[in-house]
Amino acid sequence: MLPKLEEIKSAALEQLDGIKYARDLENWRVRYLGKKSPLTQILRSLAKLSIEERKTVGASANQVKALLEESAGQKGQALRDAQLTSEAKKEATDISLPGRPHPVGHLHPITQTLDEICGIFISMGFQVVAGPDVEWDYYNFEALNIPAEHPARDTMSTSWVDTGKEGSERKQLLRTHTTAVTARTLESMEPPIRAVEPGKVYRYEASDATHVPMFHQIDGIAVDRGITMADLKGTLYEFARRFFGEERKVRFRCDYFPFVEPGVEMAIECLACRGGGCRLCGNSGWIEILGAGMTHPQVLERGGIDPKVYGSFAFGIGIDRLPMLRYGIDDVRLFYSNDLRFLRQF
Ligand code: DAH
Repeated sequence: MLPKLEEIKSAALEQLDGIKYARDLENWRVRYLGKKSPLTQILRSLAKLSIEERKTVGASANQVKALLEESAGQKGQALRDAQLTSEAKKEATDISLPGRPHPVGHLHPITQTLDEICGIFISMGFQVVAGPDVEWDYYNFEALNIPAEHPARDTMSTSWVDTGKEGSERKQLLRTHTTAVTARTLESMEPPIRAVEPGKVYRYEASDATHVPMFHQIDGIAVDRGITMADLKGTLYEFARRFFGEERKVRFRCDYFPFVEPGVEMAIECLACRGGGCRLCGNSGWIEILGAGMTHPQVLERGGIDPKVYGSFAFGIGIDRLPMLRYGIDDVRLFYSNDLRFLRQF
């Protein structure tokens, strides 16, 4: 009987050791401690043994039973602990995981263009200056040689601001060009001046493929001793070369703007037909991109600058057309309609 008990004990403990799941532990219990288990049968049969045998076998069998029960209890606890840690592991935050990237947008193509152009002029020693969108009549017109009743006012359909003060001397408007900032710069800065002034401008106009009531310009002004038309041409030629590429031809022609004398317009060889003439350039082979000139002496004087001492050139670039030319966009309204399918391409 005793060797049989030893056999049962070692077999039971060996099997118990290999158990990994709670349900296997239950089966094990039934097999080794259940009613029909050999151990239980031995315990039941004790009555049939002699008193001597009953003592030794009984003690031994009860010891084995206690050992198995205790071992099973420990095993059960170990399995529950293991289960808990594996669940905890599953739930725990894994800080080594890379984060989920947030979708980020990018700058609007017009803003990108303005930044690029400012960058070009900054590298030539210009600083970037800003002025208000709601402007005084004085800086937008008067200071720039465009007094009331001057026909040049008719070329810029103006959105006037209703200040509620009828007949007020100081009229306000949405600036029609960034040249208004040039008038402010001349007044507020001392020569030598090199400044560019990017921003929104407004004209009272209906929208179509080439017109919108709000668009963008960047004006520039240089004031210093001995500045000549050669500086104007050199600076603007360098801008065109950097923005449009080395090989692009540039043309200067006479033009009229009240605040410069002489005035010029600068055109680049058409990007579509390379000068041959097409629909984009109206068959001329050239596309006008800016107005410029030698700042009018009266404009300098109004800014407190002596035109006998200082020379100055100024220019104004229309921005919206530039990305249109570069990317072949045929409707300026696309920039302002907030359609992400369009904007995401840039
Ligand atoms: N302000 C002019 C316009 O909106 C453009 C311009 C022309 C600006 C000549 C200048 C300039 O500074 O010198 O059409």
